[in-house]
Amino acid sequence: MNKILKGNFIFTDENRNLVIKPNAYGVCENGLCHGIFDQIPIRYLTYEVLDFDDCLIIPGLCDLHLHAPQYEVRGAGMDCELLDWLNKYIFPVERKYSNLQYAKVMYSRFVSGLLASPTSRAVIFGTIFKESTLELMKLLELSGLHTFVGKVNMDRNSPSYYMESSVATSISDTIAWLEQCNFTNTLPIITPRFVPSCSEELLHKLGELLFSYNLNVQSHLCENINEVDLVKQLHPNENSYSAIYNKYSLFGSINKSIMAHCVYCSDEEIELSKKNNVFVAHCPSANINLASGIAPIRLFLDKGVNVGLGTDIGAGHSLNLFNEMVCAIQLSKISKLKPLSIQDVFFMATRGGGSFFGKVGAFDLNFDFDALVIDDSNINLDGNFSLSQRLERLIYLSTECQLISKFVKGVRLF
Ligand code: GUN
Ligand code: FE
Repeated sequence: MNKILKGNFIFTDENRNLVIKPNAYGVCENGLCHGIFDQIPIRYLTYEVLDFDDCLIIPGLCDLHLHAPQYEVRGAGMDCELLDWLNKYIFPVERKYSNLQYAKVMYSRFVSGLLASPTSRAVIFGTIFKESTLELMKLLELSGLHTFVGKVNMDRNSPSYYMESSVATSISDTIAWLEQCNFTNTLPIITPRFVPSCSEELLHKLGELLFSYNLNVQSHLCENINEVDLVKQLHPNENSYSAIYNKYSLFGSINKSIMAHCVYCSDEEIELSKKNNVFVAHCPSANINLASGIAPIRLFLDKGVNVGLGTDIGAGHSLNLFNEMVCAIQLSKISKLKPLSIQDVFFMATRGGGSFFGKVGAFDLNFDFDALVIDDSNINLDGNFSLSQRLERLIYLSTECQLISKFVKGVRLF
């Protein structure tokens, strides 16, 4: 477990500034970071040194929002907006995961893809089926990645072939699933799909489970204009979409809560997400693909709200979080707000999203030692670029670089 990595370390501090340590030694002891040094301190001289020469070493990336069953259809069916897209393409795919054999085959492809990607930690939606969600969790546990995984709850406004028959069934299946989740690095998370597909009684019961099992929650919020209108129609007396989750303790007030998208959150909702420490999962390529709009991430950052990035597979088309960083910058540049910088998006993909998991996403003292070793020599042939330029070019040109090693909490996955 104890080792030293040598290379060019780049990460961010709490203020979203880059920390750059050229030709340095990163010490990992019992899975935790013991510091980045110019020379190996005497007390660590017995540790094995893995010399990665001129490679870049950055924190593992954290994907705060994606759907495992949608991996098989990523990149297809982007010809409609959210609600039609769900009905036309997504629910017919997710229903297939009632078949455990099918789920095993498809989920092993998903886990192989995630393992090979730059992601070391992820927060994942499964389907409404408890058995196949457990199968997904078994495969993830074997991979060495650290994840949260949710069995999805939905009991209304959905096709009869893909909906739970009652609140009682939804809750008893969720409890049966929770009772079988005995993994170390693969943890359950409560997962109401979104307000349109969950009755208030179901949300209420899920809030109780959150409390009794001490769990976190993930859902979708304010992604699309028609979706927000539908929520208003369904709940004419509520102040906002966020207020509905909040009413049932599903908006950060008890445990941690991740809300994906947040494109159309009002100022009051942004305030509430700050007050309740809600995590926003910004999913820019999904927002482009489904023509949803541009999330006001600059406003969330300025308010001090936790923001991470999500690929939102399959509304997003790729597991590569470097693409999300690029998309986030590009979208911000065509919005009316101050554009996001490389530092902003690098922070969101590492330290910002990482804080959902604990001390994760940087090489600070006692942070979990999650590291990616990346060979960018293909795009630095003459060695003319500074390390901050090399980071920027890695982000934009990730497919021309080689991910040669991935460590999660000190464990080398490849
Ligand atoms: N809202 C409710 N379900 C989904 C989903 O599967 N993907 C996205 N992008 N938004 C959703
Ligand atoms: Fe999603």
